Amino acid sequence: MTYEQIRQLDDSYIAHTYGRANVCIAKGKNATCWDLDGKEYIDFSSGIGVNALGFCDEQWVQAVSTQAATMQHISNLYYTLPGPQAAQLLCEKTGYQKVFFGNSGAEANEGAIKTARKYSFDQYGAESGRYEIVSLVNSFHGRTMATLTATGQAVFHNYFFPFVQGFSYAAANDMEDVKAKITDKTCAVMIEFVQGEGGVIPLDADFVQQLWQYCKERDILLIADEVQTGIGRTGEILASQHFGIHPDITTVAKALGGGLPIGAVLFGEKVEYVLGAGMHGTTFGANPVACAGAKVVLERMDRAFLDEVKAKGDYLRAKIEKMPGVQSVTGMGMMLGIQPAVSDSQTIVAKCIEKGLIPLTAKAKVRLLPPLTITYEEMDKGLAILEEVLSQL
Ligand SMILES: Cc1ncc(COP(=O)(O)O)c(C=O)c1O
Repeated sequence: MTYEQIRQLDDSYIAHTYGRANVCIAKGKNATCWDLDGKEYIDFSSGIGVNALGFCDEQWVQAVSTQAATMQHISNLYYTLPGPQAAQLLCEKTGYQKVFFGNSGAEANEGAIKTARKYSFDQYGAESGRYEIVSLVNSFHGRTMATLTATGQAVFHNYFFPFVQGFSYAAANDMEDVKAKITDKTCAVMIEFVQGEGGVIPLDADFVQQLWQYCKERDILLIADEVQTGIGRTGEILASQHFGIHPDITTVAKALGGGLPIGAVLFGEKVEYVLGAGMHGTTFGANPVACAGAKVVLERMDRAFLDEVKAKGDYLRAKIEKMPGVQSVTGMGMMLGIQPAVSDSQTIVAKCIEKGLIPLTAKAKVRLLPPLTITYEEMDKGLAILEEVLSQL
């Protein structure tokens, strides 16, 4: 099929919820991919932070294809091996006690919200009305009704009302505003350590410490949405490790499956038994193929791998900061946001794609989430394209 035929097929049968670039990617290897005509692209997006090990990592392909050919799905009504193996690795690497597997970031956040409300119900009773959740202005937590409500950006709050009750928003890095929004009905505060969709903006370390203490003293659960920052992206398995705190609940997704749909809620000590049988579930949760992929991703992320992520992130940042037309670079590890001095992120990304580089946007910024396994040669190729585009603005 030609590109034009595929585009028409897509247009005819797929709901028009995405604005796509005029490119059809056909195959890839590590951080390089090719379109239908064989044009090469350097991938600085990893499918929005998903392909942590790049395209078609050999060990990952072997593990998922072997699992697919052995037993692809049976449901959570039976025991299977890949789920608990992936959960064990997750717990060992993050210090959490239990894992609930779902299929996406939003679904993981739904699980976290339900857990926080159930925890307060168990501890304080329904009559306490302790179900409110404070999230941060400019956050992004997903597209389902509750996670859309938790998302602290008015632009997402059009059309779909009425929203879920019990959410309020405090300004990031403003402890006084958090305190003003917390009431005796607050059961949890929900944060991203680096606001990803909001513009790749890290939280201040002081704010995080104060928030963590404040919540702990009041038995308000801290929920960390690490859907974008988690699983190695910042140079640690979880971004919370940079901040020296251990939230009661953390959610991860994107990178966890290395390209397969999977999300997880990680439960700390306070909440590991909060959800009992029949209270939460999902048909595809702990899917053996997705978990076999997650196991490879997690096994790969030892200290040396994570140090490489930090080194590559530093390398990218140092090179980009020196480029023309760059006002600032924000982010952590291999999650970077470039504020251009002129032009806009959409135009810059479109020009990069034309020249064979795939970055992302995050509001006004050009956002980079390259595969964590990207080589220096691939980074240099991508940086050369980025510099060419920026210098022509
Ligand atoms: C921080 C954060 N939370 C939640 C989500 C939603 O994840 P998903 O699209 O897998 O539902 C995203 C997606 O970009 C995200 O960046």
